[in-house]
Amino acid sequence: MKGLILAGGLGTRLRPLTHTGPKQLIPIANKPVLHYGIECMEDAGIKEIGIIVGYTPERIQQIVNSVGDGSKWGVKITYIEQDAPRGIAHAVGIAEDFIGGDDFVVHLGDNMFKEGIKEHLEYFKESGAHACLILSESETPEKFGVALTNEKGEVIEVEEKPAKPKTNLVITGLYFFKPEIFQFIRKLKPSARGELEITHAIQKMLESKEYKVISRVTRGWWDDTGTAESVLRANRLILTDLKPLNKGVVEENVKIMGTVNIDEGTIIKQGSVILGPAIIGKNCVIGPSAYIGPYTSIGDNTKIIGGEIESSIVIGDATIKFEQKIVDSLIGKNTIILSENSLPRGYRFIVGENAVIRT
Ligand code: DAU
Repeated sequence: MKGLILAGGLGTRLRPLTHTGPKQLIPIANKPVLHYGIECMEDAGIKEIGIIVGYTPERIQQIVNSVGDGSKWGVKITYIEQDAPRGIAHAVGIAEDFIGGDDFVVHLGDNMFKEGIKEHLEYFKESGAHACLILSESETPEKFGVALTNEKGEVIEVEEKPAKPKTNLVITGLYFFKPEIFQFIRKLKPSARGELEITHAIQKMLESKEYKVISRVTRGWWDDTGTAESVLRANRLILTDLKPLNKGVVEENVKIMGTVNIDEGTIIKQGSVILGPAIIGKNCVIGPSAYIGPYTSIGDNTKIIGGEIESSIVIGDATIKFEQKIVDSLIGKNTIILSENSLPRGYRFIVGENAVIRT
């Protein structure tokens, strides 16, 4: 069994953060989304993992720098370059040589599964099916691939982002395949959005009537981290299971409550209050008199000099000194947020394309 993780795509819904880096490297509880997928595979006993990357040398290098050869997880990583975001089925298709006739699991690089993939993989292996889709109930099925199933969980029909979904069971970013899927991928034509859709390849497989496609509904939470809201939701869910740790320095007169994880080189200055669950990375300076509230992840080398922040992600290398409370925010690398008391009063912004500012 081999693993394939898709870390191409453009991440347009997460701009401006994805102007400078792949969305699969956005950190959830200070760990890139992509690493969760690799860990799931390693946990399920998969040792050979292909990662689809593209489309500029910088983006590819960022992923290679973050993941390396896989030895830190005891797995072997093979990078497969996609020339342009031509669709999920295209990305799977170009991995055919890497898969080499084995069964394989496809994990979309921006998806996260609380329960991992181990149980699903066992189920697929025992079923003898040619494909197994992992489904989840959704209140907005029109935003996803949708699957119609029978009472045994066998898939009858799949549709990609239908205007009028026939069910609320959506296809998550976890698929198990036998190599027969490749013959259907080869015959695909680009969809209305100009991509080769894996949903269409699965539908063709179903229409041939020769192949069995089964499904399982996830029990744990699943997130596709496609928007700022879902990134923040995934962060909250992961922080709920945080383990306490303190490798930093906590000065006197600091109040720490709940589960808080402080990494090495970080200093929490006097008068500060931290309410967990919260994680603070390496070499950060918090305070004096700063407040870090629940469900906050602060990335490495960040300075929070006074002010209040909660339910937010600061990716790292940021400086924040802001008089009002920052909530539900996703703050990119090297960001500076300062309150200035000089006259004339007013907010000064230097913000990237598609930024969202709400006061
Ligand atoms: O998240 C689940 C959904 O993922 C499914 O319900 C849909 O059926 C499926 O089509 C897909 O929908 P999205 O439109 O959300 O996919 P997205 O373009 O966000 O790409 C998903 C991942 O695959 C992401 O990590 C980027 C990667 N990718 C995407 C494309 C289009 C590639 O590596 N190459 C590509 O060409």
